[in-house]
Amino acid sequence: MESFPLLQQLLWISLLCSADFYVSGQNCRGREPVIDPPALVVKYGSPATATCRTEYNTTRMSWEATMGASSKENTQQLVWSVDSVTDWSLKDGILWLAIYEYEPCTTHLPITIYKIPENVDLVIHNAGPLVEEHTYWLECEVKSVAPVNNLTVIWFRGDSKLEQSDFTQFNIEGDGDQNVTVRANLSIIASREDNRASYSCAAQLDLENTTDTTSNIV
Ligand SMILES: *[C@@H]1O[C@H](CO)[C@@H](O)[C@H](O)[C@H]1NC(C)=O
Ligand SMILES: *[C@@H]1O[C@H](CO)[C@@H](O)[C@H](O)[C@H]1NC(C)=O
Ligand SMILES: *[C@@H]1O[C@H](CO)[C@@H](O)[C@H](O)[C@H]1NC(C)=O
Ligand SMILES: *[C@@H]1O[C@H](CO)[C@@H](O)[C@H](O)[C@H]1NC(C)=O
Ligand SMILES: *[C@@H]1O[C@H](CO)[C@@H](O)[C@H](O)[C@H]1NC(C)=O
Repeated sequence: MESFPLLQQLLWISLLCSADFYVSGQNCRGREPVIDPPALVVKYGSPATATCRTEYNTTRMSWEATMGASSKENTQQLVWSVDSVTDWSLKDGILWLAIYEYEPCTTHLPITIYKIPENVDLVIHNAGPLVEEHTYWLECEVKSVAPVNNLTVIWFRGDSKLEQSDFTQFNIEGDGDQNVTVRANLSIIASREDNRASYSCAAQLDLENTTDTTSNIV
């Protein structure tokens, strides 16, 4: 058992008092745990798991989360596991906490929850017979997708990419912290070739190690 000189204890207390900002591995003093994986990217409704290990004995170790919270005494590792991630508040990440001989050490596991769109629809406003030189508005609707900041709507004419839009150009319906329905539009000036051309839009989610594309054609 280690003993702590008074000065060290005082230092620790004053650190706690000023530590209202968030730092990973806070107060761990060289005993930072290893979290595997260090960040999670989870599909809404899918299982998720992470393990925290430390080479030091802890009095108590816990995962503080709205789902899958767990706690264990006298251990060096603890698993956080959820069968189906259905709580959007987990996207703020979860906290791991350990007590080493009265000293708390905390660290954070970042979590991204994503949802593949339920469907992608393309509609033409002011539709009707195509008149040359007329302006038409195409609207692409992407239903129930998250996170909106990682979504790109891509426009195609036939096989060629015309343009792309991101969240700064979307009309967003719903809570941006959860799944939302997104609309993006594109204006086209009809030309003779458009009589045979087909337009399409695709919704692409760009996440670390994952790219999903869902598309629709008119
Ligand atoms: C952890 O505790 C066990 C049992 O009390 C002890 O044998 C071991 O040496 C301890 N390990 C460390 C790194 O303190
Ligand atoms: C979010 O997803 C739920 C379940 O799929 C759905 O009922 C709801 O309409 C979606 N919200 C938006 C804004 O798309
Ligand atoms: C473009 O899209 C937005 C959002 O859907 C819509 O409110 C607006 O009317 C559209 N503009 C035109 C010209 O169609
Ligand atoms: C989502 O996009 C942002 C930048 O827009 C990026 O920093 C972040 O890593 C992306 N999220 C994931 C899980 O890839
Ligand atoms: C993405 O893949 C790299 C290399 O395979 C890996 O090191 C990293 O941890 C992965 N990121 C996530 C969030 O899974």
